[in-house]
Amino acid sequence: MTELTSLRHIPTANPFRKGDVFVLFGELFGRGYVNGLIDEARKAGMTIVGITVGRRDENNALRALNAEELAEAEEKLGGRIINVPLMAGFDLDAPAGERNPTEMLSGITLKNWQEEQLDWAKVEACRAAGVRRFTDAAAEAMAEINKLIPDGSNVFFAHTMAGGIPKIKAFLAIANRIYKGRGERFMSSRALLDSDLGKLILMNFDEVTANTLQHLINASAGIRERMKNSGGSVRYTAYGYHGSEILIDGKYQWQTYTNYTQGYAKMRLESVAQAAWSQGIHATVFNCPEIRTNSSDIFVGVELSLFPLLVALKREGGGDWADQQWQICQGLLEDGLQLQTILDQIEAYNNDPTSASFRNFAAWPMDNTPALADIMIGTSEEITARHKDRKALITDHLSALVLEGAGPLMFHGAAEQIGPVLWLNHDIIARQLNALHP
Ligand SMILES: NC(=O)c1ccc[n+]([C@@H]2O[C@H](COP(=O)([O-])OP(=O)(O)OC[C@H]3O[C@@H](n4cnc5c(N)ncnc54)[C@H](O)[C@@H]3O)[C@@H](O)[C@H]2O)c1
Repeated sequence: MTELTSLRHIPTANPFRKGDVFVLFGELFGRGYVNGLIDEARKAGMTIVGITVGRRDENNALRALNAEELAEAEEKLGGRIINVPLMAGFDLDAPAGERNPTEMLSGITLKNWQEEQLDWAKVEACRAAGVRRFTDAAAEAMAEINKLIPDGSNVFFAHTMAGGIPKIKAFLAIANRIYKGRGERFMSSRALLDSDLGKLILMNFDEVTANTLQHLINASAGIRERMKNSGGSVRYTAYGYHGSEILIDGKYQWQTYTNYTQGYAKMRLESVAQAAWSQGIHATVFNCPEIRTNSSDIFVGVELSLFPLLVALKREGGGDWADQQWQICQGLLEDGLQLQTILDQIEAYNNDPTSASFRNFAAWPMDNTPALADIMIGTSEEITARHKDRKALITDHLSALVLEGAGPLMFHGAAEQIGPVLWLNHDIIARQLNALHP
């Protein structure tokens, strides 16, 4: 079991200066967590370099970005993108002439998926093909990145990759039930994990979410060595998730979204950083609080833990700026509804014995249950419905604040070289935000 190692101070170390290089290992989306880190790198005057995961053509073959896609991505990033497709996972990989896992599972339906059996030797051959493709591409991309890094630079690799849900039609329906279903539409996450389909998905999560950090560390060994010998430095960060502490009952308490199927891969990500750290490589997984992004929107209810951040902002010395955040959030609710009423509803939800029984750090990631789905998804839907506009939610605003706070904590926290796994909880996020807005 991992120990809960929380960051409790605001780090300030800043070795980065103009000409140092920030490398984003993943793509950038508008609401994504890594925006917070990129803002810091820009402020420090660093050169920003990115990669692409590539795109699939009509035959599912992986291709590089075309000129238009590349220009758009570089504009968004504010830096050069190395156009070598770095899509991770093996759901569409196979040895020549063999079927890939998506093809192996093309016959599954909502009725038969639990009985469907896979030939694991064949799956393993696909996995090996996918890993080879990825590590070859990573070596090619890294040779290009290497050319952009002057001797003596401080290099910051930011890993953001997570995912790996295969595009199998029936599975998308199953996922919708597991993450969004309640009542008759409830589906058990344990049933999924016990099936061959589930085992394959967990393998793919491991490849995308965890093993890519190891491949990044391996592929950049030459850069590490060159920086070491020329007075520079190399650091790695990755985004983890392993629950987070929020205010419940007036105290910061660890809680989690359930069921977080990806949790096994996130624990593996932690061990990749721990193993690297023990060899003197500064790789830190920052376990971050729940926010709403392109990737997390599928998990209905994951956003409920955001609301108590408003209370944390006041608790951690917030002044006028914290009051303004309350007013902004109040303004998003339907007329006549007090923000405090919603905060009371969240407090009641967190103190309900059903949700409280999932606050078990040692047992993480626990399976979902019909009772949890009822209360979590029910509360989420009720609160969403009480906004003026379903497209402008309090949790959108609070998500933007959390990523703003996480950026400097990770940037300077990585600079300070504190340890391989650090939790960012609502206390430190709130303190950092208040410090940014005195
Ligand atoms: N949203 C949350 O609540 C939350 C909480 C803690 C940690 N995180 C982590 O933060 C990181 C960024 O996620 P985000 O929520 O900001 O969403 P996001 O959608 O902005 O980022 C997801 C990233 O994963 C990459 N990716 C997806 N599939 C991939 C594949 N097959 N191969 C390679 N790369 C792939 C994308 O390019 C992108 O960089 C992830 O590691 C995520 O697990 C998110």
